[in-house]
Amino acid sequence: MQVLDGKTVAHAVKQEIKEKLINFKKNGGKTPHLAAVLVGNDGASETYVASKIKNCEEIGFKSTLIRFEENVGEDELLHTITVLNENVDIDGILVQLPLPKHIKEEKVINLINPDKDVDGFHPSNVGRLVQGLPAFIAATPYGIMLMLKHYQIETTGKHAVVIGRSNIVGRPMSILLSQNMPYGNCTVTLCHSKTKNLKAMCLQADIIVAALGKPEFLTGDMVKENAIVIDVGINRVKDDSKKKGYHLVGDVKYDEVAPKCSYISPVPGGVGLMTIAALLLNTFNASVRNRKLID
Ligand code: GUN
Repeated sequence: MQVLDGKTVAHAVKQEIKEKLINFKKNGGKTPHLAAVLVGNDGASETYVASKIKNCEEIGFKSTLIRFEENVGEDELLHTITVLNENVDIDGILVQLPLPKHIKEEKVINLINPDKDVDGFHPSNVGRLVQGLPAFIAATPYGIMLMLKHYQIETTGKHAVVIGRSNIVGRPMSILLSQNMPYGNCTVTLCHSKTKNLKAMCLQADIIVAALGKPEFLTGDMVKENAIVIDVGINRVKDDSKKKGYHLVGDVKYDEVAPKCSYISPVPGGVGLMTIAALLLNTFNASVRNRKLID
């Protein structure tokens, strides 16, 4: 069994970006600049955004964090997106989800300039992804693809079961794995909360991507020998023995599943780190694209 080590792969991706950035700047490119918008005080969202900002700093990107109170009006948020769209120094815009209930996420996402949509959530980027055209790809599925590539995992002809149909992970993941391209070419089954006999589906899978957000949902009896298991879950489980009051577990019961796998990604230390690396790559690519548009 080989552990898919997010730390190693994310480090390699970031090194590659750093090298590209040196060349880009030598050729007159400017420092890539990411704007992150955070609404409210959700602990997990705060942690994710802080990590995105910190990673920008580490890699040599500029970043701007724009924070709003939970009760910010939709119009004010939309106005901020318009201002960021028009600011030529900003290459990438991300609005951390989920947003409070009184704000329509769709409205906010749809307003982001698709050329700055480094989260790959805008319908234009999703449509381009579906058609196999160059697009910003949502950072988590993109990060998983980078991980498959790093370990040169053969996917062609394999049966992949993706559990979870979210716009952020499951659905784009199912499209990427089915595409006619390296680290695609799978036969994909997209499972969700209404799927009948999920266990039987999983037992047929060569590759399982668990992205449903339920702690330790995928158990040993649901996985066949030599399966490749990618755990997307980042669930906080109350734990008074920890300083923070919780510990993280994935959607996979690691101790049971890992011994059966050919490859498995751990939590923490797996896909989460890849999400950030993929976001940085999208931001760098946005900056390159932005420059071409300006020149
Ligand atoms: N919420 C959970 N995952 C993500 C992500 O990848 N991007 C944004 N913007 N919000 C999220």
